[in-house]
Amino acid sequence: MKIILGFALLVLAGPALAQALVGNAEAAKGKISMCEGCHGIPDYRTAYPHVYHVPLIMGQQQAYIAKALHEYKSGERSHPSMRAVAGSLSDQDIADIAAYFSRGSK
Ligand code: HEC
Repeated sequence: MKIILGFALLVLAGPALAQALVGNAEAAKGKISMCEGCHGIPDYRTAYPHVYHVPLIMGQQQAYIAKALHEYKSGERSHPSMRAVAGSLSDQDIADIAAYFSRGSK
């Protein structure tokens, strides 16, 4: 019962905590090198078009990117490579990265 309660609290508190963090696009610059090989930034080409359909994330809504990364991290979304990637990110990393990619290609 305790475990279930704890989990429910985490689920409820998670989004609130995530929203309290302010993303810093400058700080993301050291964190995004591993994304580029698959997401094809900055020239919009996917690195492995025959293996993966890799969605473009540059220019997406900040909130959408952050939500997607939290969902991979929590296991709500199940893609194995993205789960591994997102699992290594802190909530602050996710906020920074979402801020960076939502700025577009500049
Ligand atoms: C090994 C290749 C790979 C790496 C590295 C990678 N991604 Fe992904 N990413 C994918 C694939 C493939 C998908 C689509 C997975 C799916 O269908 O759920 C995806 C999906 C996403 C999505 C969801 C997009 C959408 O439209 O729903 C986001 C956001 C994302 N990645 C961000 C990142 C970020 C940020 C990084 C770096 C920290 C990163 N990815 C690194 C392959 C990768």
